[in-house]
Amino acid sequence: MSADPANNGPPPGARADWTIDQGWDRYSEAEHQVWITLYERQAALLPGRAADPFLRGLDALDLHRAGIPDFARINEELKRLTGWTVVAVPGLVPDEVFFDHLANRRFPAGQFIRKPEELDYLQEPDIFHDVFGHVPMLTDPTFADYMAAYGKGGQRALGFGHLHNLARLYWYTVEFGLMESADGLRIYGAGIVSSRAESVFALDDPSPNRLGFDLERVMRTPYRIDDFQQVYFVIPALQTLLDVTVGTDFAPLYARLEGAKDIPIAAIEPTDRVFTRGSQAYANAGGRTQAA
Ligand SMILES: [Fe+2]
Repeated sequence: MSADPANNGPPPGARADWTIDQGWDRYSEAEHQVWITLYERQAALLPGRAADPFLRGLDALDLHRAGIPDFARINEELKRLTGWTVVAVPGLVPDEVFFDHLANRRFPAGQFIRKPEELDYLQEPDIFHDVFGHVPMLTDPTFADYMAAYGKGGQRALGFGHLHNLARLYWYTVEFGLMESADGLRIYGAGIVSSRAESVFALDDPSPNRLGFDLERVMRTPYRIDDFQQVYFVIPALQTLLDVTVGTDFAPLYARLEGAKDIPIAAIEPTDRVFTRGSQAYANAGGRTQAA
């Protein structure tokens, strides 16, 4: 995601587009081992939970190998498949920089990896979230087109002053999306597939609502940044994301949103397609603040 636009220049050592060298040769053995530990945990958990396009992407990019992937290596395959590349950035980047990268099929990824003692705790997206979580989906041609369209939509949303609405689309799809499959619901959002606990919670816990995806509905729904989601939105197929993004005239949509109230995070509307009517027990008990 992106950072406060008030900060208007790249940090020292970064290029004008905020990219830096990955510096793959400088990772320590301990850092590679963190990747391997996280990779092995998720690889064991995700079959039967993650959507097929994610699992196919994971295989295509061969992300396990000997630790933290070298962007130069994965970019060869990614570029061949969908024209995308991964670029290293020092941390969160301003909105306009983020959208320009996406619109041009470059995914900005954190270069650092979390500490061994913080495997399940992230203040800022690291390379495991960004590369393991996001990049496999970018091997899928439909999702790849959606992400580029989202970048272009973000550039327009800045002009309309409705970025907070569009950011909810990213959140509830790219980060925390669920998808239907012949065998039941599957996860594809990067925030879920890169998290051991949320990979289970998002599909199995009776607490959250699971509702059919609707663009305007999603854009009116706030989200949690500090805990498991209280609502997940389910798409029938990746094509839905591309269709609504390129097929919607966002100017009148933003005009309608001016007069529309946000929908409370745990609410279920009469028009919602309900997959799960959640108990909200987890959130009502205080969520992570109450966890042992
Ligand atoms: Fe992310």
